[in-house]
Amino acid sequence: MNLNIIPVKWSDEGVLMLDQRLLPTEEKWLTLKTYNDVAAGIKDMVVRGAPAIGVSAAYGIALGANSFVGTNVDDLEEEVEYIGDVLAATRPTAVNLFWAIDRMKAKFQHEKGNGRSVSELKALLIEEAKAIHDEDIESQRLIAQFGGELLNDHDTVLTHCNAGALATGGVWGTALGVIRGAVDQGKHVAVIADETRPYLQGARLTAWELMQDDIPVTLITDNMSGHVMKKGRVQAVVVGSDRIAANGDVANKIGTYMVAVLAKRHGIPFYVAAPLSTVDLNTATGDDIPIEERDIREVTHVKDIQLAPDEATVSNYAFDVTPNDLVTAIITEKGVARAPYIESLKKQFEA
Ligand code: MRU
Repeated sequence: MNLNIIPVKWSDEGVLMLDQRLLPTEEKWLTLKTYNDVAAGIKDMVVRGAPAIGVSAAYGIALGANSFVGTNVDDLEEEVEYIGDVLAATRPTAVNLFWAIDRMKAKFQHEKGNGRSVSELKALLIEEAKAIHDEDIESQRLIAQFGGELLNDHDTVLTHCNAGALATGGVWGTALGVIRGAVDQGKHVAVIADETRPYLQGARLTAWELMQDDIPVTLITDNMSGHVMKKGRVQAVVVGSDRIAANGDVANKIGTYMVAVLAKRHGIPFYVAAPLSTVDLNTATGDDIPIEERDIREVTHVKDIQLAPDEATVSNYAFDVTPNDLVTAIITEKGVARAPYIESLKKQFEA
């Protein structure tokens, strides 16, 4: 396996991001030199996927703090708070964004309490962002290991959206991490990837990513998933998540709920793979998860080609919520959680 897709990196010149808007036809890296560039990169989907957004936001804070001019720690604190607010306003659903911002701010407070100078704080924020990134990759490695054990030799797994290395700190991915984990364990696993309208993360990113690793992947349109399940072609569904509520309700890319209902109908296990940074114990149920609505042009057009009539009334929900009773198990870096999730998820935080 290739195992070297890392979509966001720290460098002395700035934050490097693989421009996912151009994949699969062009592999272009952008160098983002300000926290505003990083915020725009998240908002405009240069980088996307919950854990990748979290890692990027952490680097954005480190980058912004490092361009602060001055020696007063209180002024730097004000700047870090402000940068955190700018980054938090980019996308509402993926909780990893807010988790990473809060962790960076907590690190600042802790080290300020230790009497650190401005230059020391700047260096410590870079270190913390790198630690968030490293820990994310390690979490995906463990998810891959635990999740891989749930799959059998010669299984075909259906996945939705892109929950791969591209959507995380890199290397494994969450849902695709489970598949890579199984392959790593010597199993022959094939994938069916939903194209994932309207933004086409499945067609553009998941197919590309799996082909880099020589993992067999068949692309289908979203409305084919019921048919392939009915035909017996799918032994498991594995998806990622943008936010998991305390009760195990799962927000993920629009269309995930439909896939979960179909999986239940056909007796196919529906697994969710996500690090604990995606689990939000402060959100009681899926009803409390904010659902991003995006530009309707994503629905009415594909690139510059118009598909719908001018002035058509359009909805573009980016995510939906799968109720916990449709979820067979949630795989995190701490292991495999099963219902009742209100208890099993809490236990994982305590472990
Ligand atoms: O809108 P996106 O592309 O950021 O949405 C991403 C997803 O919904 C992924 O499935 C989810 O973040 C899990 S990523 C490991």
